[in-house]
Amino acid sequence: MRVMVIGSGGREHALCWKLKQSPLVSELYCLPGNAGTVEIAQTGPARSIPELAEFAQKQRIDLTVVGPEAPLADGIVDYFRSRGLVIFGPTRAAARIESSKSFAKQIMEAQNVPTAKSRLFRDPQAAKDYILGLESVPVIKADGLATGKGVVVPASFEEAVRAIDEIMVEKIHGSAGDIVVIEERLVGREASVFALTDGENIRLFPAAQDHKRAYDGDQGPNTGGMGAFAPTPVVSSEMLAEIEKTIIRPTLRGLAEAGAPYSGLLYAGLMLTADGPKVIEFNCRFGDPETQVVLPLVRSDLAQLLWEAAVGELVSPLEINDLAAVSVVVASGGYPGPYQKGIPINGLAEAKNCGVEIFHAGTGLRDGQVVTAGGRILNVMAVAESIGQARERVYQALEKIKIKDAFYRQDIASMLF
Ligand code: AMP
Ligand code: GLY
Repeated sequence: MRVMVIGSGGREHALCWKLKQSPLVSELYCLPGNAGTVEIAQTGPARSIPELAEFAQKQRIDLTVVGPEAPLADGIVDYFRSRGLVIFGPTRAAARIESSKSFAKQIMEAQNVPTAKSRLFRDPQAAKDYILGLESVPVIKADGLATGKGVVVPASFEEAVRAIDEIMVEKIHGSAGDIVVIEERLVGREASVFALTDGENIRLFPAAQDHKRAYDGDQGPNTGGMGAFAPTPVVSSEMLAEIEKTIIRPTLRGLAEAGAPYSGLLYAGLMLTADGPKVIEFNCRFGDPETQVVLPLVRSDLAQLLWEAAVGELVSPLEINDLAAVSVVVASGGYPGPYQKGIPINGLAEAKNCGVEIFHAGTGLRDGQVVTAGGRILNVMAVAESIGQARERVYQALEKIKIKDAFYRQDIASMLF
């Protein structure tokens, strides 16, 4: 099978790494890829959706796997399918489960999927009046895609009102802020659950936990994710079965009833509240950095499973090993704010010798030297018998990596012990 992965982050490097283990995969491409994927896949320049389809046709690609949400929301799956190409991921209509928070809420409400109570507003003044009439400070969400920055969890009513001005009046996220969703603040621990589906059949991966804040102790600004571990012990196998029954299955039914049947990877971001798991958000793709800790736990052939989901015949079991994985992100100084690029990365080979996998995120090559090219630079991942052992190995390896001004959190996966 000739396989092409689209994207250039740690998630895509991990997907390539796992797909490469499949005896079914004869040729692997990662477009545009990074300095890590170039070692295991053929890479190429960034291309538009029609150019990617043309490339897939020319290279006789049998299966395309889409990493990020943007091409899915832009209809890459519809475009490829209309040309007879097999592609893993939801259609543009089904991807609205991520690209429109108000659409996701409508589906959940229609199917009684547990989620935060919410209301949506098109008018900033009406939104502000509503906020000031509430008993507790709500969470404010821009409706559309805002590169992970569209959610505000304000500390006060004033901050909540300020968020409405920024999103709806100043339009800091552009038209993604034409509509806002205002919802009750949930409390509990968070978990990320990945459901692989062809629309009918479902295979759940072990639940993971992401660490979104930039600094230790969950301090500092929100980021794309500073590290992850899986399986998270806060989600038991009984709870996972309940999540499939009360959240994943009814959401897929609701999407089908709305004329947008879903296939691909449905990611449920959950809050484990005193009243059970509730949905914080859905994503229409593998999560980053959770993929980097979930795929190492998969014993099955990923290429086979993704192929089956893409063609609507998900029949193979998803077998999971009995191990645990921890991954820590190395980020550029200044991230998630402005940061410098092009800084040399040293010590990768020494770190790998500690028994870890290094999934590249924002990296590139300059005259043969690996250099930084993004805010999140590397994911250092270890898989071991326990979270504790995996964690220890990751932190040993991290000491070998030398990148000027870079930083990483010291407490990934530590709150368990
Ligand atoms: P998102 O960008 O949708 O992943 O949301 C970012 C973070 O905001 C989540 O990981 C949660 O920590 C937090 N969040 C979102 N919605 C809620 C909510 N209703 N209650 C509490 N926290 C929330
Ligand atoms: N880890 C959060 C996301 O992928 O959106």
